[in-house]
Amino acid sequence: MNKKGFIFDLDGVIVDTAKYHYLAWSDLASELGFEFTIEQNEMFKGVSRKRCMEILLDIGGITATKNQFDTWMVEKNVDYLKYIDKMDASEILPDVVRVLDFLKKHHIPIALGSASKNAQPILEKVGLLSYFDTIVDGNNVTKAKPDPEVFLLAAKQLGVKADDCVVFEDAVAGIEAANKANMVSIGIGDKNILSEAQYNFKDFTEMDAIFLNGLLAGK
Ligand code: BG6
Ligand code: MG
Repeated sequence: MNKKGFIFDLDGVIVDTAKYHYLAWSDLASELGFEFTIEQNEMFKGVSRKRCMEILLDIGGITATKNQFDTWMVEKNVDYLKYIDKMDASEILPDVVRVLDFLKKHHIPIALGSASKNAQPILEKVGLLSYFDTIVDGNNVTKAKPDPEVFLLAAKQLGVKADDCVVFEDAVAGIEAANKANMVSIGIGDKNILSEAQYNFKDFTEMDAIFLNGLLAGK
């Protein structure tokens, strides 16, 4: 059997931080004088902070100087950090720990592959940091998803061939990145939105041991 590696996205896969990103972006939008809706927040999933800022300004029809742009981005993050500061293990999404334990039991290397620059403190807060053999996040990559850089770097750091990696993702951009990296892409969330994924699950509660064993034996 080839050595397998598993890569988890963070926001929307391990924890539901999309709601905190939404609160912080909508705080900024109202300060700038417009409304940012929960539907528009879908566009922000998997997308870098800088790109989110650009999209937000587009939505509000606002032109910013470089200085304003940078100041608002910092402001949004300071606000976001206030929300995530209160996080604990109760915010881990259902059955994430069961899947992590399954992989650990089989000595499978595990990576985080996230666009967030806040990934490490979030994993610490919810008590999952020790599960991860390596963390590749927004601080380590130059090209954002859908570019496969984040997942290719994670595979490299795990010492596993890209073809032998499995990716769990909740964002369209992330599924596209996993597919480009020639990894097995597993969509967590709405299968109509994540239609490009190789496999789809609403959440980890739907993923049984038969499926997980199949992934370990696969290809
Ligand atoms: C992704 C989220 O995981 O991280 C995006 O889905 C977010 O919504 C991006 O913009 C960057 O996160 P952060 O924590 O660095 O602002
Ligand atoms: Mg995500």
